[in-house]
Amino acid sequence: MTILLLGSGGREHALAYKLVQSSKCSSLYVAPGNAGTLAIAKNIAINPTDFEALKKFVIQEKVEMVIVGPEDPLVLGIFDFFKKNSELNHIPVIGPSKMGAQLEGSKEFAKEFLVRHNIPTAAYDSFTSETVEKGCLFLETLQPPYVLKADGLAAGKGVLILHDLEEAQRELRNMLIHAKFGTASSKVVIEEFLDGIELSCFVLTDGKNYKVLPTAKDYKRIGEGDTGLNTGGMGAVSPVPFADATLLEKIETRIVKPTVQGLQKDTIEYKGFIFIGLIIVKGEPIVIEYNVRMGDPETEVVIPRIQSDLVELFQAVANEKLNEVSLEIDNRSATTVMLVSGGYPEEYEKGKEIFGLDKIEDSLVFHAGTKSENGKVVTNGGRVLAITSFGNDFQEAIKKSYQNIDKLHFDKMYFRKDIGLDLL
Ligand code: AMP
Ligand code: GLY
Repeated sequence: MTILLLGSGGREHALAYKLVQSSKCSSLYVAPGNAGTLAIAKNIAINPTDFEALKKFVIQEKVEMVIVGPEDPLVLGIFDFFKKNSELNHIPVIGPSKMGAQLEGSKEFAKEFLVRHNIPTAAYDSFTSETVEKGCLFLETLQPPYVLKADGLAAGKGVLILHDLEEAQRELRNMLIHAKFGTASSKVVIEEFLDGIELSCFVLTDGKNYKVLPTAKDYKRIGEGDTGLNTGGMGAVSPVPFADATLLEKIETRIVKPTVQGLQKDTIEYKGFIFIGLIIVKGEPIVIEYNVRMGDPETEVVIPRIQSDLVELFQAVANEKLNEVSLEIDNRSATTVMLVSGGYPEEYEKGKEIFGLDKIEDSLVFHAGTKSENGKVVTNGGRVLAITSFGNDFQEAIKKSYQNIDKLHFDKMYFRKDIGLDLL
């Protein structure tokens, strides 16, 4: 079948890598893709949020399935756009409906969903510019640190964790009155701070049935020892060594099942990935967020561990028959390390030639921010390459990633040298 994948990051290269391995995939297009996807599929220069352009392309090329990588097209309603259009409604879109995507598009919507379905989550209240003074008083009733979350999408920057009450009150006003994150912060969720270890759980659902995919841990901060600014993610490990059978059982029964059942009870159409951000407090999993897509760079360790045919899994999602297919997982560990442009997540330069890609042995290189220019691969973003390796344990895997990184180079290349070290 002819498949169209939307997005341009490491997540999409990893998905593309797995899709083209399927005998069911005869042709893969990636919009807009990067130099990595260009080597294994056909890139097309269409923005994933330009639905009219996508429609034209899909009809012209007889695309038979659309897989959505990033959240923006989902929150903007790409699923509903296809469903409501008579020329497109026979083409399955892998991703939730616009309503389902609100689990990521609105923190308040997600919190109300969690509470309604009795899924463990941090206590909270939400405020607008009209109730900002109430919000300031609410902060006084809490213990520091204070967690402020912009309600809408803010490119991963919308969460502030502050230790000082006055600063938290000032930032709350900045968000609500001075639109610190634009319209995304016209509503703010103030949440109880949870002290524990983070873990990401990934689920693939057809809206009724689900498969729990491998767990992963992401390294969000730019600096070693989890210091400095937040990034999109600097590395990942799967499985997470501390996620034992007892914890996984709790996650499935208390969180995954009620989430999928909650979608059904609320008649929310959902055929895609659910990425559940958890904090484990004294052995108990608590939800801190939902995302309606795979994580990046978590995909670069989760997807390579899936041995089942990904196209078959997606077809089962589309046909609501996920219960009829099996999910086979490679039990080895996978790790990935992100190579980023110097300066990221603040200002950085692009267009730097990448050297050494032909020297990689026994690791997978997933392109994130790259493009092909006159036959050369050059940097084209903050996060540039994800180097994924397998091992019998994560130490063995991470060693391979670092050995291969030694062979790679571009001007002002930076990466964290401590991925996985906290898990020892
Ligand atoms: P998010 O953008 O929702 O992924 O949040 C960014 C980060 O903020 C998370 O990865 C956590 O490290 C942290 N965080 C979010 N909510 C809480 C909470 N209630 N307690 C402690 N940390 C949190
Ligand atoms: N790595 C975190 C995310 O994709 O949101």
